[in-house]
Amino acid sequence: MNKADLLEILKAHFSQSPITGYTDYPFRKIIRKYGCRGLIFTEMVSGKGYLMNPKHHEEILRFDEEDRPIGIQIFGGDPESIASTAEAVEEKYSPDVIDINMGCPARKVTNKFGGAALLQHPDIAEKIINAAVKRVKTPLTIKTRIGWSFGDLLSKPLLKLAEDNGLLCAFLHLRSKTSLFSGRLEYDNFRKLKDGFKIPLIANGGIYSKEDFLKTVDEIQPDGIMIGMGSAGNPWIFNIKDTDYKAPVISEKLSVLKEHLLLTIEYFGETSGIHKFRKFYKPYLTGIPNHTKILPELFKAKNINEVLDILNMNFVF
Ligand SMILES: Cc1cc2nc3c(=O)[nH]c(=O)nc-3n(C[C@H](O)[C@H](O)[C@H](O)COP(=O)(O)O)c2cc1C
Repeated sequence: MNKADLLEILKAHFSQSPITGYTDYPFRKIIRKYGCRGLIFTEMVSGKGYLMNPKHHEEILRFDEEDRPIGIQIFGGDPESIASTAEAVEEKYSPDVIDINMGCPARKVTNKFGGAALLQHPDIAEKIINAAVKRVKTPLTIKTRIGWSFGDLLSKPLLKLAEDNGLLCAFLHLRSKTSLFSGRLEYDNFRKLKDGFKIPLIANGGIYSKEDFLKTVDEIQPDGIMIGMGSAGNPWIFNIKDTDYKAPVISEKLSVLKEHLLLTIEYFGETSGIHKFRKFYKPYLTGIPNHTKILPELFKAKNINEVLDILNMNFVF
């Protein structure tokens, strides 16, 4: 896909952010089927880790042609390994976008100058971007946060690097690193940053409903929007802009829960699939009367028959 078409898609449709432990192959199938028309990301891969064992990453990175446009995200603080991994995944998977993670707050990532640590080390970010730009033809992006702490705007030098190096866009999480995943959304600070940049800024953070979407647009008029956890158990969220959007009814939620669970088991096997899927019960069932009563039973269920028995005994499909 060429850059102009990709940009159109980024502007017109919600993208799905990369979420470790969530945006796996079955999840991506489900959100594509029920609403997502934008860019979708796989889970992130480590620049160094990928080079040590590319085969081990196939389960994370596999996708089908029909799943495009799709992005692969790389994290790390070592320019050479990020560039080499970018080159390797470009050759093996031909993703539509390669993103460099500059926002992850996890200590095991920031300790090695990766993720959000790059907000405090723009010199390393510069080396990473310079190295990657030289090695791949795939459109590159960065995903970062407004700053390290509220109001410090430390993303500014990173956005400048992205713009000066011709990156496709920057995904900007509207929270600082210290706000983690649920702290204050920094609309004012986004507005301060947006002025003066030509590179498209795709805003991310806190969109769980049509009201959240409308508020974000009203507050900051971003070039596009990326949804994160709001799509867990709610693949219909990608349709909230549509004039004929209708929230899913209970029977739809239950049947897609079941479809997603079966796909997860098909992909990962029964034991691992059931285990990985546990985090999705609550998001799918939220809003359904009496669901809290059965969550502990679902968490304990060890095979598909146990899960289906619990669902069939408590809900009408
Ligand atoms: C469990 C979890 C895992 C995440 N993994 C990643 C990741 O691998 N790469 C990344 O750029 N962001 C990751 N994020 C951040 C999300 O992509 C997103 O930026 C953040 O959740 C804010 O968006 P939201 O408020 O819409 O969820 C993760 C967030 C959570 C909660």
